[in-house]
Amino acid sequence: MQTLLFDLKDTKRPPKEIDDLIQAAARVLREGGLLGIPTETVYGLGANGLNPEAVRKIFAAKGRPQDNPLILHVPGPQWLTRYCREVPPIAYELARRFWPGPLTMILKRNPIVPDETTAGLDTVGVRCPNHPVTLNIIREAGIPVAAPSANLSGRPSCTTAEDVLEDMDGKIDGVVDGGPCAVGVESTILDLTVTPPRLLRPGGLPLEELENIVGHIDVDQAVTSPLKKGEQPKAPGMKYRHYAPKAPVTVVTGAPRKTAQEILHLLKPTSGVICFDEFEGLFTGHEVHPLGPSTDKAIQAQRVFDALRTFDGSPVSEIFAQCPDRRGLGLAVGNRLKKAAGFQVVDVDDENVLIGITGGTGAGKSCALRAIASLGGKVLDCDQVYRELLRDDESFRNAIAAAFGSVFLPDGELNSRKLGQEVFGNTAKLAKLDAIVFRFVRPELNRRMETEPSRLYALDAINLIEADLDQICDRTVAVTAPVELRVRRIMARDGIDEQYARMRISAQKPDDFYREKCDCVLENSADSPEAFQQEARNYFEKLIDKIKEEKQHGGDE
Ligand code: TXA
Ligand code: MG
Repeated sequence: MQTLLFDLKDTKRPPKEIDDLIQAAARVLREGGLLGIPTETVYGLGANGLNPEAVRKIFAAKGRPQDNPLILHVPGPQWLTRYCREVPPIAYELARRFWPGPLTMILKRNPIVPDETTAGLDTVGVRCPNHPVTLNIIREAGIPVAAPSANLSGRPSCTTAEDVLEDMDGKIDGVVDGGPCAVGVESTILDLTVTPPRLLRPGGLPLEELENIVGHIDVDQAVTSPLKKGEQPKAPGMKYRHYAPKAPVTVVTGAPRKTAQEILHLLKPTSGVICFDEFEGLFTGHEVHPLGPSTDKAIQAQRVFDALRTFDGSPVSEIFAQCPDRRGLGLAVGNRLKKAAGFQVVDVDDENVLIGITGGTGAGKSCALRAIASLGGKVLDCDQVYRELLRDDESFRNAIAAAFGSVFLPDGELNSRKLGQEVFGNTAKLAKLDAIVFRFVRPELNRRMETEPSRLYALDAINLIEADLDQICDRTVAVTAPVELRVRRIMARDGIDEQYARMRISAQKPDDFYREKCDCVLENSADSPEAFQQEARNYFEKLIDKIKEEKQHGGDE
C-alpha cells in the first residue's frame, strides 16, 4: 500500500488547496481507510469509529492487543449524545472549559458504537482534539474518528508526521502533516462513570486543573505504580509496557541536582542519558537527549517521546532519565518515563516531610489529614499511639504511676477520669504529664516512621503544642474555623444540641492559642468537607514544596 502524504502544516497555502486536501483526507476516512492525523497531543491513527471493519484495520496496523479500546474523536460536545448515554452535567461543564483540548472523558456508550471500537466495554472514551486541520477533517467526514496514538504498539508515541511514517509507511492510506504536536503527551483520561471521578491516565491537561472544577479525583494506581500480578487497570492500555526504547530505562526521581549526581554515579561508558538542560554538560561523552529546562514542564512534555524515540536507533546499553516532580504536567511526563522504564525507579530524595496538624473539634482537622493522605502521606495518630503505649509499654505506665500515683484501675486500664482530675487546672502537673508523654511518644513515632517509610507524614495531635511534639515537625499547621460554623458542624456530625456543642468548643483551646503557637493557620470556612479537603490539598502541596526547597538549601550550605 502506498501511504499518501497530505501536507497541511503550511497554513499560508491558498485556501482552495487546503480545502482540496482536507476533502481528500476526509474521503479516506469515509471510505474506511486508515489516516494518520495530527492532534495537539500526539499523532493519531484514525478510522471511521462506527465502521467495525475500518477499526479492525487500526489494530492490525499497530499490532495492538484486541482488548485495548480506542478513543472517539469528535468536533465538539454537541456530538456527545450521539455516542454516549446518561451524560452527566459535569461532562458538559468540562467540555465547555477544556475542549477542544487534551481531555478524554470516559462515558457510558450508546449501542451505535461498535464493540470493535470499545473492545467490548460498556463505556467509551471521547475527546475533541485541539488541532484545526483535524477538526476540519472530522467535520468534513461527518463521522467520529476512532484514533489511538499512531505509533506501533509498545513504541513511544509519534509527535511528528515523520515519526508516523517511520512506524506506519506502507501500512496505512495516508498521513496528514500538521506540524509537530504542541503538547507532546497524550490526553488526560478521566472516567466520569464512577464517583468520585477517576484519573486513568495523566496527560496534557494537569490533574489540578480538573480538580479545580470537579473537586477530588481518585488517581488510578496504574498511574504511579506497576500493576501487581493479575491486577487489571481501569484503562486497559495502562497494563502494557509502553513507550519503550530498546535499551532498558531507569528513571531517577528527586530534586534535580541530586538526581543528576546519582546518574553520574550510576553511569557506565555505554549508558545514555535523558536529563534536564542545565545538566547536559555533566554527561559529555555520553549520548544525551535533553528533556528541557527542569523548570519548564511544557517543554519536557513536548520532548519526552522524542527523547525516548531517538534512543531507539542508538547502541546505548541502558538509559538513565531524570524525572520531574508530580505537579502540573510533571505527572504525565513522569508517568511516560516510568512506563518506558517498566517502573524501574531509583528515588534519591530520601528526605521526608513531617507536618503537625492540630486544631479544635469541628474545625476540619480530619479533612486536612485526609488531604495529606490523598497526597500519599501517612497519618500518625498521636492519640492512638498514646493509648497503645498505655496498653503495651510497662515503662510508660510506670512513669505515669510514679508521677501521679494510682491512676490505673485494678484491671490495668488507665483511669483517665482520675488522671484528668489530677492534672486539670493544674499547670505544673499538666506540664509534667505532657513531658512524660513527649518522652515516650516521640521515640515511638520515630520507630513507626522507620518501619513505615514514607516521604510525607502528618502528625495528628490535638495537644501537639502542649506535648512539645511541634519540635519534631517541619511545620505545624492549625486548622481553625469560625465558631458559629464549628457549632453547626459538630451538631450535625455528632447529633448533639447547640448548647452542648458550644460547651465542647469552649472546653478547648481558643483559636487564638493555635494562631499564636503554630507556624501556619489553615482557616476553614468552606461550604462542604469535600471543598475544604480540596483547598487543604492545594495548600499542603505548596507548603510541602516550600519545606523541601528549604531543606535542600539547608543541605547545600
Ligand atoms: O491524546 C490522545 O488521547 C491520543 C490522540 C491521538 O488523541 N490518543 C491516544 O489513544 O492516546 P491510545 O489508544 O494510544 O490511548 C487510549 C487509552 C488506552 O490506554 C485505552 O486503554 C484507554 O485510553 N481507553 C480507551 N477507551 C477506554 C474506556 N472506555 N475505558 C477505559 N479506558 C479506555
Ligand atoms: Mg498509545
